[in-house]
Amino acid sequence: MNQENTQAKRRIRIFDTTLRDGEQAPGASIKPEQKIVIARQLARLGVDVIEPGFAISSPGEFQAIQQISRELQGVEIAGFARCVKEDIDAAVAATRDAAKRRLHLFISSSQIHLDFQLRKTQDEVIRVLRDMVAYGKQFVDEIEFSPMDASRSSEEFLYRVIESAIDEGATVINVPDTMGYALPEEFGPMFTRIRQNVRGGDKVAYSTHCHNDLGLAVANSLAAIRHGVTQVEVCVNGIGERAGNCSLEELVMAIHTRGDSLGVETGIQPEHIYETSRLVSRTMHFPIAFNKPIVGRNAFQHESGIHQDGLLKNRNTYEIMDPEAMGIPRSMIILGKHSGRHAIKHRIAEYGFRLEDGEMEELYTRFKAKADEQKIITDDVLLQLVGESTDTVTEPYSLVDLQVLAGSQRTRIASVTVRREDGSEGTFAASGEGPLEAVIHCIRQAVPVDAEFEDLELHSLSTGEGAFGEAVVTVQHQGERYQGTAVHRDIILAAARAYVSACNGVLLTARRIGKAAAAGE
Ligand code: KIV
Ligand code: ZN
Repeated sequence: MNQENTQAKRRIRIFDTTLRDGEQAPGASIKPEQKIVIARQLARLGVDVIEPGFAISSPGEFQAIQQISRELQGVEIAGFARCVKEDIDAAVAATRDAAKRRLHLFISSSQIHLDFQLRKTQDEVIRVLRDMVAYGKQFVDEIEFSPMDASRSSEEFLYRVIESAIDEGATVINVPDTMGYALPEEFGPMFTRIRQNVRGGDKVAYSTHCHNDLGLAVANSLAAIRHGVTQVEVCVNGIGERAGNCSLEELVMAIHTRGDSLGVETGIQPEHIYETSRLVSRTMHFPIAFNKPIVGRNAFQHESGIHQDGLLKNRNTYEIMDPEAMGIPRSMIILGKHSGRHAIKHRIAEYGFRLEDGEMEELYTRFKAKADEQKIITDDVLLQLVGESTDTVTEPYSLVDLQVLAGSQRTRIASVTVRREDGSEGTFAASGEGPLEAVIHCIRQAVPVDAEFEDLELHSLSTGEGAFGEAVVTVQHQGERYQGTAVHRDIILAAARAYVSACNGVLLTARRIGKAAAAGE
């Protein structure tokens, strides 16, 4: 399992379709001007091909594809089109200024699609695709062809379809599992049979595009890789039609982590994975499940005391990837009633606190009582407990009072009172378009930390009218991300506390680093 494979690795090209198939996820559509922002990030991440949209679908979409093609000259751009002249003309025109481009044409090959969707015979489909591949080839050399619903097609007809596309000049054959129906052990070998049974099948490159209806998109893509594909189509956060597409980060990290067994590698820069995931989630208003591999918030968090202890001794005991290498803020340990002394000690040391044995015992008792009351002990609560156990001030700023005036007819106004370490207090007022914005404006004045407010997530932790809300605020300071979390029945108060806590994290970390430097550590 752990043997190092010393042979040269085969390069897998990553074709990103977040802005085309991903945008087809219900509720995920974005404005054309937001596409360029995501495309820039995808280029930074190191994808090989970007499919920025469907040019024929609207003038805004056309312009977005045009702008991406003009600006991102280091990455290949795919123009997407049905086997229809008008689609091809639009895709060709929109991608004209790309330094490197391809035309991606598709037509269905399964009998059910032919009978009910296309209402065409097999011979008619062959005629259309031959005409359209030949038509597209006049304008663009690189033609990718996809037989839609390939995995539910008769293999005999699939061979005919692929052979015809190759005959007319297709250079990349993308075999999709459109409905997420395939099983890895049948999907992978299909590529070997296609290559062997299709005339010209050994002269083209192969790609795959898997949907996740049975949760098998990554497994099917890896099976296809084992059978020779050199390109995989993916979406950030696995978004896409229905249950989504093969997730970029899952596939890439499977290759990165198990490249020894797979014998392949990608050109992705893992350090940009988290930022890309957050950007796509935020822009497309598409939340990420807590337990989503790689980018879900629980993906690197451990609650069991036994796991926490093992991790603190050697992180490889319970982690197979390094979250920091993917740009994920390291807060791997969730403090709760399962946590032991070791984990608590470690967390407070991150804020620069070292307690005497007696103080530590006092803290541990208070911690356990609090953990019985509320499931998770967030950092702001932990620091309060440290303060109570040691009779000292542990937070540079603490929220004393919050007032908000909100309503449909008026500007939202807030006032916030904070206490500083020296005991002095200050009250600040501000307005905003929403009550949260007003509160954030207040805290910016009250807590003068030079950190950029990056993200606020709100979650309901229970049900019913009295549900607890959890707020997680992320701020950036000198390239580092800091998170503050708070839980309260009042979500505005939770958000305010979480923001103050994130700012305290920035200040306490700066102090700890300063102290360590002064001590020559
Ligand atoms: O799922 C699918 O089959 C597609 C193709 C058009 C590539 O998105
Ligand atoms: Zn698809």
